[in-house]
Amino acid sequence: MSNAEFYIYTDGACSGNPGPGGWAAVIMHGHSVQEISGHEEKTTNQRMEMKAAIEALRQIPPGSKVKLYSDSAYLVNCFKQGWMKRWQINGWMTSKGKPVENQDLWREFLELIKINEVEWIKVKGHGGDQMNERCDHLARRTMENQGVANLEEEQKMCPESDIPGQDQKCSEQSEESTLDAHENTFKKSIKTGVSNNRPVRRLGLLTGGGDCPGLNAVIRAVVKGAGYNYNSEVVGFNNGFKGLVENDAFLIDDFTVSGIISRGGTILGTSNRDNPFDYRPGGSSDYRQTDNDRSGDAVENLKKWDIECLVIIGGDGSLLLAHRLSEIGVPVIGIPKTIDNDLPATDVTFGFDSAVTTATEAIDKIHTTAESHHRIMVVEVMGRDAGFIALEAGMAGGGDIILIPELPFDYSHIVEKIEERQGRGKKYSIIVVAEGAYPVGGEPLYQVKGAVKRLGGIGSQISREIENRTDMESRATVLGHLQRGGSPTSYDRVLATRFGVKAVELFQAEKYNEMVCLKGTKIESVPLGKAVSGTKRVDLFSEQVRAALAVGTSFGAPINGSSGG
Ligand code: F6P
Repeated sequence: MSNAEFYIYTDGACSGNPGPGGWAAVIMHGHSVQEISGHEEKTTNQRMEMKAAIEALRQIPPGSKVKLYSDSAYLVNCFKQGWMKRWQINGWMTSKGKPVENQDLWREFLELIKINEVEWIKVKGHGGDQMNERCDHLARRTMENQGVANLEEEQKMCPESDIPGQDQKCSEQSEESTLDAHENTFKKSIKTGVSNNRPVRRLGLLTGGGDCPGLNAVIRAVVKGAGYNYNSEVVGFNNGFKGLVENDAFLIDDFTVSGIISRGGTILGTSNRDNPFDYRPGGSSDYRQTDNDRSGDAVENLKKWDIECLVIIGGDGSLLLAHRLSEIGVPVIGIPKTIDNDLPATDVTFGFDSAVTTATEAIDKIHTTAESHHRIMVVEVMGRDAGFIALEAGMAGGGDIILIPELPFDYSHIVEKIEERQGRGKKYSIIVVAEGAYPVGGEPLYQVKGAVKRLGGIGSQISREIENRTDMESRATVLGHLQRGGSPTSYDRVLATRFGVKAVELFQAEKYNEMVCLKGTKIESVPLGKAVSGTKRVDLFSEQVRAALAVGTSFGAPINGSSGG
């Protein structure tokens, strides 16, 4: 339990403060004041009061001491009178055998309470209790500041005497001055629902395309970087461009990104099928064009959330869409990701190092079985039309033959290398092949053809061909999506963090329509238009390829004037 002590003041709807369907909470801690408010269609005071308390508890660090002031008997008694325990024992049934209402909220409440030390303080209903007036007053003020409540409406609905804060006799003055004094030090407003004028700037965030290790590290960096340094908020769109078109979004708070740096995948979800300019709801398997341009909805949804700039984390496809959005006037910032490392405007993309690490570990394991069985083991790795994963993992894993899309291979050359090794007493060989590699005169092998092609199968083809051409046994292993899964390496976590922080800096400087990138050892940015042109591929004349050749690695064909190892 930490020593941090927080004071939470909540108010729901029916006192007329903060208004029908509204809720508000204020958190005070030392020199910080945080105001939170929201609105719901479903108007019951009990539910609104719970929402206020839950939302407030979500904002404070776990392990805190909390004094929670509320005028809701429902809320306080549930804990103080032991109703909650009884409900849990009875399978969430009331003593009358009816299902407990608002179970979703109660369950979340329970979780939040477990991780904090909460003292429940029931304040008397309005009119007679100074503390209650303070709650009402702060709640009202929060709603006014954030413009969520329609106060005129509210006043019409409530008799004058019901509106706390009108009573000048109460001792709000001192509370008011304390609040004002603290306000400039740190103030954060959180709002759910429609747009209004707030002092806080907002950026949107989505992850598009195939997932890769490090996406969560970037999300974390953007949210923390924006919140800590610029008092800015981040709205996350779920499932890539689908969430943008369908307004499936939420405000990502600090707790949501807590502990995710080491997690693979993306907490936002992703999709490599949804294009706002040609939108196919549900994604159709034959990828027919629909001419269903929903980019207007995307723009509207950004406006609804008051988003000034959209940060798009993606590979070439998503960055191309980012560029198209920028062309219709959406301020965007791109962050490059892909395990393939095939984006020309950055030296490295995050995800690549993790994929290479996974592939290398797999090759190490295959090595031992290759050796035991005297077999030719073929390991097929991803990378689309670029051979970076094959080259890097092949070198790191001590592969004897590395086949990459940049250099069509020759079966007789491969067999020569295998036989040359046999001649030296090496009864096994490891071939690392990129999924996009193909033989001289041939073409890449696709499992699925169409608008979105899916490469695969070259490993098995090579393995069969080797068995036909030699008297050796051969097996193929396709590493596939293993390379995209799991925890990011420390290199990727750091690169992702640096990219995320740079994106927030660009946002702060209003330097839009750029993509962050790594140049040498520095994080920089390049115009998006430039970033999305072309594909980076392995340079056959690079020092790295020469190094591989120098240790006897074959590339399956003559290369750089050498016979190819
Ligand atoms: O671009 C990343 C990547 O993993 C490629 O290496 C691979 O060809 C492709 O995505 C696979 O895509 P999907 O997950 O849609 O099959």
